[in-house]
Amino acid sequence: MIRKIGIIGCGTIGSELALAIDSGKVENASLIALFDILNINAIQLKSKLQNSNPSVFSDFLEFVSSTSFLQADIIVEAASQEAVRNFSKKLLDGGKNLLIMSVGALSDYEFLSELIRSASKNFGYIYLPTGAIAGIDAIRSVKDVLESVTLTTTKTPKALADAPFFKVNNINPNKISKKTLLYDGDAANAVNNFPANINVAAILSLAGLGIKKTSVKIIADPEIEVNQHEILAKGVFGEIMIKVRNVPSTRNPKTSFLAVLSAIECLRSACNNQMRIGT
Ligand SMILES: NC(=O)c1ccc[n+]([C@@H]2O[C@H](COP(=O)([O-])OP(=O)(O)OC[C@H]3O[C@@H](n4cnc5c(N)ncnc54)[C@H](O)[C@@H]3O)[C@@H](O)[C@H]2O)c1
Repeated sequence: MIRKIGIIGCGTIGSELALAIDSGKVENASLIALFDILNINAIQLKSKLQNSNPSVFSDFLEFVSSTSFLQADIIVEAASQEAVRNFSKKLLDGGKNLLIMSVGALSDYEFLSELIRSASKNFGYIYLPTGAIAGIDAIRSVKDVLESVTLTTTKTPKALADAPFFKVNNINPNKISKKTLLYDGDAANAVNNFPANINVAAILSLAGLGIKKTSVKIIADPEIEVNQHEILAKGVFGEIMIKVRNVPSTRNPKTSFLAVLSAIECLRSACNNQMRIGT
């Protein structure tokens, strides 16, 4: 069965996904709609496609009242946390399956419960890709016997510089000249201090112990050339140690190439009705 796909957000991840569908890298998928608040981004993306002819939208109400929306099986959000907050419920209420990239928006568990209720009522499904880390399948497996889980993220001071943490603590990120532990606390507080890092902490928290019991360390290292995430999980099952060293995507240095690939693989899995590997 061919699954009809709509994409919200035609930036780094949305574009790579659209190109993957267009070139046949995602089997059983057909791209039928592109939506972006910046119309030009959707138009430019459409112009790069060779085999698909999606309708283009920049107004959400117009999108949800269109024939394309009616026909769509899966809507991919690759836009922003705000887009997740504003659109997800309406998409699920409309009976759509939803693949969410801006997972950070789901650290509000009341909002997440609302989405799950809506998906359940309308026979929809919410897909959350592993994104910029790995091993979420293992963390899910040991969830009931998990005693502790710590995420240690190491980035250059420049990559972290936008974080509110620096203003609040009156620290100049440009003056960090050696490897420095900036934050050591729970994921809930990390969200406020380093919101750009929240997607990784959020998916780990959802899979494991929740946002208050997941520990997060943020390290600034002027020498590191990649975005590094390490997970250490402990329990009666033993220990799980995961380390990824992510190269940034060429288009958006804040988005790891792995996150782009993870989005494509998640969609592939959602469109493959025969077999799921490692889930
Ligand atoms: N889960 C993960 O591990 C992971 C990893 C990387 C990025 N992300 C998240 O995925 C999202 C997309 O990342 P990206 O690198 O493609 O970003 P990007 O900035 O390259 O592209 C985002 C696109 O979405 C559009 N957009 C923004 N807000 C919108 C809205 N409310 N409605 C419609 N369109 C909107 C923008 O105009 C832009 O074209 C971001 O929220 C990012 O934080 C998640």
